[in-house]
Amino acid sequence: MNRILASTILGIAALGVASAALADLKPEEQIQYRQAGYSFMSWNMGKIKANLEGDYNSAQVAAAANAIAAIANSGMGALFGPGTDKAVGDVKTRVKPELFENMEDVGTIAKNFVSAADNLAKVAAGGDEVEVSTAFGDLGQACKACHDKYRMKD
Ligand code: HEC
Repeated sequence: MNRILASTILGIAALGVASAALADLKPEEQIQYRQAGYSFMSWNMGKIKANLEGDYNSAQVAAAANAIAAIANSGMGALFGPGTDKAVGDVKTRVKPELFENMEDVGTIAKNFVSAADNLAKVAAGGDEVEVSTAFGDLGQACKACHDKYRMKD
């Protein structure tokens, strides 16, 4: 009983902290943070690609895959809050307004993307270049699935 009560209180406290932290981010900051997250993943995707096309360094690939998985699991959905569907002042965005109207579909795409990122990190730790190549291709497709529908061309 006490344990349930304690975890309920902790749960509520944790939620309180999370929503307070999110409330602190202005819409333009959410846009900048999500662009930074995507760019950082892209940099790490590039490193993995270079390894697959040249000399394969298993430690470098594992580090890059872990960085991508960490961002994928960071809850990026929180950076698509109200007011982030269009430019805020000088801060431009390439998100399509459709993203905000199809949250269920976006959720499915995002879930698939997180599993692909987790899988890449898992096989990268194993060090098998062929497995990494397949998992890398799958993750690239998962990124593209969202961009094709919800990111403007330029
Ligand atoms: C759930 C949808 C979704 C997924 C999954 C996704 N992206 Fe994106 N990506 C977007 C959206 C939306 C934008 C536009 C963000 C903006 O301008 O506000 C974007 C923007 C970008 C940008 C440009 C960032 C900038 O500075 O403007 C890059 C690079 C990028 N994504 C790479 C990736 C890579 C690499 C992956 C997979 C590892 C990925 N994205 C997965 C939706 C997604």
